Amino acid sequence: MSLSNVKAIVLAAGKGERMNSSRAKVLHTLVGRPVVQHVVNAARTAGVGDVTLVVGYQGDAVRKAIAGVAFVDQTDPRGTGDAVNRCRGAFSGFDGEVLVLCGDAPLISAETIRSMVLGGRERKADAVMLTCCVDDPAGYGRIKRDERDGHFLGIVEEADATEEERGIREINSGAYVFKARPLFEALATLKPDNAKGEYYLTDVLRWFGRSGLRVETAKPLDATEVYGINDRRDLVAATNFLRWRVLDHHMAGGVTIVDPSTTFIEADVQIGRDTIVHPFCVIRAGVTIGEGCQVGPFAHLREGTVLRDGAEIGDYVETKNTTVGKKSKAKHLSYLGDATLGDGVNIGAGTITANYDKGVKSRTVIEDGVHTGCNTVLVAPVKLGKNSKTGAGAVVPRGQDVPAGAVVVGVPAKPLKGSGS
Ligand code: UD1
Ligand code: CA
Repeated sequence: MSLSNVKAIVLAAGKGERMNSSRAKVLHTLVGRPVVQHVVNAARTAGVGDVTLVVGYQGDAVRKAIAGVAFVDQTDPRGTGDAVNRCRGAFSGFDGEVLVLCGDAPLISAETIRSMVLGGRERKADAVMLTCCVDDPAGYGRIKRDERDGHFLGIVEEADATEEERGIREINSGAYVFKARPLFEALATLKPDNAKGEYYLTDVLRWFGRSGLRVETAKPLDATEVYGINDRRDLVAATNFLRWRVLDHHMAGGVTIVDPSTTFIEADVQIGRDTIVHPFCVIRAGVTIGEGCQVGPFAHLREGTVLRDGAEIGDYVETKNTTVGKKSKAKHLSYLGDATLGDGVNIGAGTITANYDKGVKSRTVIEDGVHTGCNTVLVAPVKLGKNSKTGAGAVVPRGQDVPAGAVVVGVPAKPLKGSGS
């Protein structure tokens, strides 16, 4: 359901020094998608269709990687407040609510975003910030509250915090909903008078409080949602959180995952009911698996793989850009790339599609009922006609299509006398 009159700003201009990487932090891959894509998706799923990304470091690469959003440049990042302020022109005349999200906090859920917006409206808030109490608040801004009545006083960044303030365990997640007008009014007053010499977005909330505007806090549905990625360790931790969410989703959808702890399924994967995924499998983003299939153990399904109902992919089999027809099987030691397999195909152990030559990828077509012998090499482009067979060790050369019903053997494979139509 769409949220009317809300626009999102996602902050993604920073370099991410602590990643120690030549790639911008927000473009690192997290369960098969760029980190910042998770944030954009959460906003969209929550019903916020209008998303602006503030980009700076490797801005061109970010523009290329993320589709369907608007971009605002911040080539010289001077803090989170400065980043939002750069959207002033793009947001001029907008009088709704502005959802601000950090591009490096990818675990936020659509449900939490909706409850921030809808809860804020119910409580007539001018600003809502997402906060959470954590065991280890290191690295986050701390929420200062009045000791007597608990009302919000401001956010103190770690670099500016006193020893005592560092002990506060309620942290700022970096996600907020602001009424647009006072937000841009407040941003115009920011000064970089802090330890980092940056324009802090967090100072806007103090301004709201002082101006008699209503600041409310919201809690995430799940504490892990506030997790921000600053270094490689955080990237692994975030991967683990998300991985379990993905596995849980498939199990709820009727998929048996024999050993979730050794099964890596990225985001954007479809799996039908009663499919069984055996241990030690990697299933990449963009894979579609039908009902009643068997995958693994030790299978690697890469992007563009489609398994139709009842297909079986066994151990040490890698597939990419390949469709495997109904009840077709490749049970052992194969590479199937850029291939189309019909129904009832049986791929012998060690069969390989040689799909790549001098920078060109070509397709292999394997029609219904084909059986390939062990260690067959299919040099693409090539087609194996319906119900044809290859002998053990056969090499089928490029362009030498095998007629329906034929049996080919040898290197290069030649028709066996009297076979085929
Ligand atoms: C920020 C918050 C902190 C909060 C934490 C949550 C401020 C001042 N502090 O700190 O209270 O606990 O997030 O994770 O806001 N960015 C820009 N342009 C800039 C600076 C940053 O686009 O000029 C982007 C970064 O790319 C990043 C996000 O804003 O995606 C957060 O910036 P970061 O420097 O990581 O802020 P923190 O120090 O983590
Ligand atoms: Ca951060």
